[in-house]
Amino acid sequence: MPAVSEIKFKQIARTIESRIRDGVYPPNTKLPPHRVLAEELQTTPVTVAKAYKLLSEQNQVESFVGRGTFVCGESRLSSVIQSSDDEDVYNFSILQPCLSHHLPALQNAIRQSASQLTSQLIGYAENSGHERHRQTGIRWASEYGLEPGTTHNTLLTSGAQNALAVLVESLTKPGDTIAVETLTYPGILAIASLKRRHVVGVQMDEHGMIPEHLQQSIEQHHPKLVITVPSHQNPTGITMPEERRIQIADIIRQHHIWLVEDDIYGFLNEKPIPAICNWLPEQGFHVTSLSKAICPALRCGFIKAPSSQVATVSAHIRTDIWLSSPLNFIIAEELIHSGQAFELAERQRLLAAERQAIAKQYLPETTTPGQGYHLWLPLPSGWQQERFAMEAQNHRILVSSGSYFDTQQSCNHIRLSLTAIHSGKKFREGMEKLNQLLHADPATVLSYQTNPF
Ligand SMILES: Cc1ncc(COP(=O)(O)O)c(C=O)c1O
Repeated sequence: MPAVSEIKFKQIARTIESRIRDGVYPPNTKLPPHRVLAEELQTTPVTVAKAYKLLSEQNQVESFVGRGTFVCGESRLSSVIQSSDDEDVYNFSILQPCLSHHLPALQNAIRQSASQLTSQLIGYAENSGHERHRQTGIRWASEYGLEPGTTHNTLLTSGAQNALAVLVESLTKPGDTIAVETLTYPGILAIASLKRRHVVGVQMDEHGMIPEHLQQSIEQHHPKLVITVPSHQNPTGITMPEERRIQIADIIRQHHIWLVEDDIYGFLNEKPIPAICNWLPEQGFHVTSLSKAICPALRCGFIKAPSSQVATVSAHIRTDIWLSSPLNFIIAEELIHSGQAFELAERQRLLAAERQAIAKQYLPETTTPGQGYHLWLPLPSGWQQERFAMEAQNHRILVSSGSYFDTQQSCNHIRLSLTAIHSGKKFREGMEKLNQLLHADPATVLSYQTNPF
């Protein structure tokens, strides 16, 4: 028979669970401290702590040292990526290209591609899509440092997020560990949380994941899979130089584990840097998409997989979505084969570099090294990242709190997207407002707070 306290903590967990379900504790809210809930439910703080631990193992809540326990939910991802297109809002939150620059080219490509529709192209396709569209993916990725794949090992997905989810599902099981950069793209954390994989953060320096730390992490936590974003890393902006890429590949090779290289920002490098997967033909999965270079609406993603894994990954894609819409790949094919896609990507690269230079005039304390779409900004003392993001929103400025990216909950930063705002004038205005808020006394600003989340 189970001990009485064992039954009690499970009962408490069920009570909290039903409060989460009924909206008493909405997603992302902080749960009451152990002592407070223990008093209310007439139990001990230890029993509440055990209930929180159980719910944390079930991915319903998340605990952070020194900050408390929070309710999980998909809304975590939606609050980091705020896509408001309200004219009055300064959107420094969403990481996307400056889309107004791409509209005429896209309208033209859609017109051109309409005439290419055939009954074969609008039907179901074998594997993850039509061969000619896989050819398109090979052409795109090889332009930015990937050794060309074949139409056999190049697979089509609905964007990079879909590719990451499919690969996590194909290469790991619930309960397995995935190693990522300590600060990482929240979409990876959301997949791991939803699919019940553990995440371990690998320390970074100015060149990205540190090889010695990766080695230690592998020996200590035995991850099945390492996921890295080697170019213009989200959120730090760090780009791994070639030498570091070779070192990371060596470690992966020695340990017989998988690597997923999410190279969605590779096109932002001034000169192509060879992909890590070039040194890992048997263990590396290269992921990219057209979302950042052309537009997110295309939802065109590409995986280059080791030949031995093509059947497994294809089966997962087929099970999830059957195949990514060939209509979108027809448009992508038109843009890539005409060469326009590369011109558009280059324009965005130049715009990002220009915006980085402007942002550094307003925010000289930024430490972001790169030339990419975003900045990783340390907050001045007195400001706490979530409070800052909330207060900025009260001022109609959208930024992303560092907490969404942090596997160790130790940073105090915000991430700023520099290319979502179309007009240069509005961008400068937003920077000016942001600068004022950053240099305001938090105590004074917070006392005027009118609109908490
Ligand atoms: C590192 C990284 N990977 C993947 C994605 C998702 O890309 P997609 O729109 O192609 O799904 C993003 C989007 O912000 C990202 O920053």
